[in-house]
Amino acid sequence: MKTMDEKPLLAVLSGKAVWPPPIWLMRQAGRYLPEYRALRAKAGSFWTMCMDPVMATEITLQPIRRFGFDGAIVFSDILTVPYALGCDVTFTEGEGPSMAPVNSTSGLAFDLKKLAPTYETLHRVRTQLSGEIALIGFAGAPWTLATYMAAGRGGDEQRAAKLWGNRDAGGFGQLLDLLGDCVARHLTAQLDAGADAVQIFDSWAGGLSAPEFTRWVIEPTKRIVESVRAAKPDAKIIGFPRAATLAGYAQCARETGVNAISLDSSAPMDWAARELPPAAIQGNLDPVALLGGGDALRQATDSILKSMRGKPFIFNLGHGVLPETPLEHVAQLVAHVKGAA
Ligand code: CP3
Repeated sequence: MKTMDEKPLLAVLSGKAVWPPPIWLMRQAGRYLPEYRALRAKAGSFWTMCMDPVMATEITLQPIRRFGFDGAIVFSDILTVPYALGCDVTFTEGEGPSMAPVNSTSGLAFDLKKLAPTYETLHRVRTQLSGEIALIGFAGAPWTLATYMAAGRGGDEQRAAKLWGNRDAGGFGQLLDLLGDCVARHLTAQLDAGADAVQIFDSWAGGLSAPEFTRWVIEPTKRIVESVRAAKPDAKIIGFPRAATLAGYAQCARETGVNAISLDSSAPMDWAARELPPAAIQGNLDPVALLGGGDALRQATDSILKSMRGKPFIFNLGHGVLPETPLEHVAQLVAHVKGAA
């Protein structure tokens, strides 16, 4: 029988250096794939696909079949947690997500059953995934979820959430605590349903003052890690506090207990190799380099590989695959990383 550690991605999350390194890409399932666009046209909407285990299973597996990644991330969205709390999340073509803005926790009640399609998807993917490929679950971090809930949409420099946090630290803290509980339960349920590892996406962790970063990013993440590990002591968890400062990434590695830190493209990998261990490192190719391809893509990839050789490292992007990305560039990247000497 295969042990868990035979999956290269999990070996890295246990602190081992694997070479060539395992590779997967954030947003590897999505609009750059013609087979995704075809299914989306048939399904009618993104949310329908997230909530249909048969379709979500198919979409999770599409990039694996095409490129042979070492990790399959379950097809879903971070906004399923606000949805399970009773928010009226909708996705409008070309505009992204929206919901009625939230300004207190009253009226929010978490119903884990609303997330059952994702657990069912994980069960289904698990049975169809070959032994070497790790299955990755995920959730949005409380701060990033709060930015969408407070504003009722994305963007706007996270101003609504910051203003709420500054004017009403107690009320905003209650929202983060509630979200932290829900996220921990959702991640634990995904591990129960067959996920090998989980990633916490804090996409809007950049641009916070140091005290805000500690209160809104570090502390909630640390509580989630503790609560998932109380249920699953060996849980493998990747943190992605996107666009944190270098001091912020180092704090995340030191204080939250995550097994790996995922870095955005601005973080110097030789710095990371020195400062972040014992946490493993994931990242950090610029999605625009993947879009552009050619020599610049090869050079950027080689530079990352050179800094990470001999370290516990997972190759990924600094953020998600862009929808315009040519398929050949992704195939070339995977071949290049897998051929790394
Ligand atoms: O392949 C994978 O990475 C797994 C699936 C996944 C999606 N969203 C599918 C998706 C994951 C891990 C996410 C996470 C997510 N969702 C984040 C964190 C990561 C990040 O990108 O910063 C955030 C902030 C969201 C919220 C969200 N979902 C936004 C703002 C949008 C609209 C912007 C966009 O790219 O269209 C989405 C939609 C979304 N989530 C799509 C996909 C494939 C596009 C849907 C479509 O139009 O077909």
